[in-house]
Amino acid sequence: MKKIAILSGAGISAESGIKTFRDSDGLWENYRVEEVATIDAWYRNPDLMTDFYNARRAELEHAKPNDAHLLVAKLEEHFEVTVITQNIDNLHEQAGSSNIIHLHGEATKACSENGKRFVQDIGYRPIGYDEKTPDGARMRPFIVWFGEDVPRLSDGAHAVEQCDILIIIGTSLNVYPAAGLLYYAPSHCQIYVIDPKEVQPISRDVHFIKKKATEGMRELYDMLCSQ
Ligand code: OAD
Repeated sequence: MKKIAILSGAGISAESGIKTFRDSDGLWENYRVEEVATIDAWYRNPDLMTDFYNARRAELEHAKPNDAHLLVAKLEEHFEVTVITQNIDNLHEQAGSSNIIHLHGEATKACSENGKRFVQDIGYRPIGYDEKTPDGARMRPFIVWFGEDVPRLSDGAHAVEQCDILIIIGTSLNVYPAAGLLYYAPSHCQIYVIDPKEVQPISRDVHFIKKKATEGMRELYDMLCSQ
């Protein structure tokens, strides 16, 4: 079976009603990254960050996977698929993908602020300001913030190194190291980019499908599965 790696970003979940970061109505229009998405900000104002991620988690409660997530999952009928996502939502899981690497953490999990230990599922409930993990440390969202390691990066790189087909979908490719993963693709690899807008320039040959995720993924699914 041929291997497919999917590198997904916020745009794949846009049609499920979840805001992207850098589009005109994106999250970073209304919040400053430095206040809600860096490790420094957590130590400066953990209550604000707790609120911000409680809101993100609450938004997810009623979000459903769209056809792009579902088609990514359905690719498993024909290919060996690894999903590498920058998204903290659980829509790839809900769609039925079985091999998912969350590069930037997961909204429905919490951990301790010291060393991200005691990772636990918390579903869609808010984290309280005074909540502690069993070691007595403050509980924080299980998210990779700017300034932190990306522990699953090497798993993502391994999946891209092995793939025959790489599908990049719904990411502006602004954020490293995630954006650099595409350069791990072997030279024989076919690379597809699905996005309604231009993304950052890519120094590789790519097939650009300038469409929304649901439409672009349908087109690509039909093409790949008829080959
Ligand atoms: P961005 O907001 O930077 O990019 C979203 C991309 O999705 C853009 O290229 C849009 O054109 C595209 N897009 C919008 N609607 C779409 C649709 N319906 N179908 C397909 N594509 C669509 O989001 P990311 O690249 O995911 O990290 O951002 C990367 C990281 O930056 C995030 O994981 C987050 C953020 O800061 C952290 O917070 C650590």
